[in-house]
Amino acid sequence: MQLKDKTAIITGGAAGIGKGLVRKFVKEGANVLFVDVNEDAGLELEKELGAAAKFLKTDITAERMEEHILTAALENFGGELHILVNNAQASKPKLLLDVEQSDLDLSFNTGLWATWRLMRASYTHLAKTKGTIINFASGAGLEGLPNHGAYAMNKEAIRGLTRTAANEWGHAGIRINVICPGAATEGYKWWRENYADQAKELEAKVPLGRVGDVLEDIAPIVVFLASDASQYMTGQTIMADGGSIMLR
Ligand SMILES: NC(=O)c1ccc[n+]([C@@H]2O[C@H](COP(=O)([O-])OP(=O)(O)OC[C@H]3O[C@@H](n4cnc5c(N)ncnc54)[C@H](O)[C@@H]3O)[C@@H](O)[C@H]2O)c1
Repeated sequence: MQLKDKTAIITGGAAGIGKGLVRKFVKEGANVLFVDVNEDAGLELEKELGAAAKFLKTDITAERMEEHILTAALENFGGELHILVNNAQASKPKLLLDVEQSDLDLSFNTGLWATWRLMRASYTHLAKTKGTIINFASGAGLEGLPNHGAYAMNKEAIRGLTRTAANEWGHAGIRINVICPGAATEGYKWWRENYADQAKELEAKVPLGRVGDVLEDIAPIVVFLASDASQYMTGQTIMADGGSIMLR
């Protein structure tokens, strides 16, 4: 077990990649406090996984959410935090010239600001355990995918934040990396149904020839980033997308 006795916080854990991560982290021996706005799905997953998984219904844009999340994780699982996974994200696709302030607020409040607020609140706890943070960005940001301006701006800001934190917090023993996944989740399926041509074009360009599976393809890479196996890596962007984007 790669995460035995580690305590993790995972945002957006009731569906999609987050749900797969909660399952995989528990399988790898971690205790997981997972957060989502989807109460029914969260409670169902909590029931499925037993004592190692605790669900907290919280909107990550809410005031003082970071205090509530940290307190719940520490109180439920022995007072230490080892891993923070900033996975949750909401956004509304629009062409750049149609983007309104409310679209930017949705992307940035659930993405960059929630990520930063949880990182800052976790700092002292992660410094004590030499812990690690995994943030979520996107190929849509790296490539400037049309129709996703508010999302792309926010995701690239998360990569910038990650690099700065990696530089500033390395001395404290905290590692921070970014993953850009490609996986057939609820969010992805919605996008595929609504932007079928764009989705088909992107899927045709995946060198490994398929869209990723949350549990088989994405979760093991996040576990690697969360575990000591990646102890000499920080500030990196890891593409978990079947080779769609090859960074140089
Ligand atoms: N699926 C992909 O192929 C893909 C590609 C690139 C990047 N990503 C990124 O990976 C991450 C996970 O993607 P996904 O496809 O699983 O997304 P998803 O939409 O399927 O799931 C996101 C989860 O976050 C939760 N959430 C949304 N707003 C919230 C809020 N305010 N407070 C708490 N929880 C909230 C949702 O309820 C949901 O359970 C996201 O950061 C996404 O941008 C995914």
